[in-house]
Amino acid sequence: MRRALTLLTKRGMAATKTHYDRVAASYHDAYFYSDAYEMWQRDEVLQRLELRPHHRVADVGGGTGRFVGLLKDAAGLSTKPICVDPSAAMLEACERKDVAFVQSDARAYVDGLPPKALDRVLLKEVVHHFGDDELASICAGLHKALDGNGRVVVCTRPRDDVEYPFFEAARDVWRAAQPSADHFVDAFEKHGFSCRVDVAAYPAVIDREVWLGMMRNRFWSTFAGFSDGELAAGVAEVAAAHPPGPTAFEERVVFIVADAV
Ligand SMILES: C[S@@+](CC[C@H](N)C(=O)[O-])C[C@H]1O[C@@H](n2cnc3c(N)ncnc32)[C@H](O)[C@@H]1O
Repeated sequence: MRRALTLLTKRGMAATKTHYDRVAASYHDAYFYSDAYEMWQRDEVLQRLELRPHHRVADVGGGTGRFVGLLKDAAGLSTKPICVDPSAAMLEACERKDVAFVQSDARAYVDGLPPKALDRVLLKEVVHHFGDDELASICAGLHKALDGNGRVVVCTRPRDDVEYPFFEAARDVWRAAQPSADHFVDAFEKHGFSCRVDVAAYPAVIDREVWLGMMRNRFWSTFAGFSDGELAAGVAEVAAAHPPGPTAFEERVVFIVADAV
């Protein structure tokens, strides 16, 4: 199982892209990207983004574009929001005509933006993929690209204190791959942002078989570095620890609201 940790922590952009290309078609089958949970997350993001209809919005690492489409509908955005993602398969998985799709990694996209091109930027479940230099460059570029009252909202998860029914080796991979909120706050504050952090909690209840199926599908990149045999052993470990039927846990999402000052 050490192999998975090594693979995941040393994964480059190509390996990450391969992972998302592979999961794109079934991405919205997973609990965290559909139904009531997705609506809860949309409302939590809306509260923090404080969108106005005239805002120019980019969802960087936006995956399929479905989430930013939900934001557009709720806020009545008058221009198409932009979904930026390096994975062509993710960008092709949802066919919203009222979202503009850009195939790019975050740094290249941000580098190419003219000054004051955007009002709001969402970085949802993507910042853990950025290396240190990449993060610094993205923060600097976003500061230039945001207009006067510009805001970035980062949506990520805690490094510690997570209740997911993981197997032990997956928990190790999670901790190794998920920096704490301070790491991101430092990077934004070094580049002219003022940040506040809070954690939102959701009472998740997932049927054990559904959760085991999500892990078998490697729904998060946490599982991408395990061989088939390692994953099967991990799934069996979780099955042994949880009885059939609903499994309840508290889902915690870390929000960083970074205002350009
Ligand atoms: C967990 S998914 C989140 C997608 C979407 N934001 C959501 O919450 O549904 C992570 C996304 O980040 C993208 N990604 C990974 N590395 C990236 C990078 N360096 N720049 C931009 N996007 C990246 C992946 O292709 C993938 O679509």
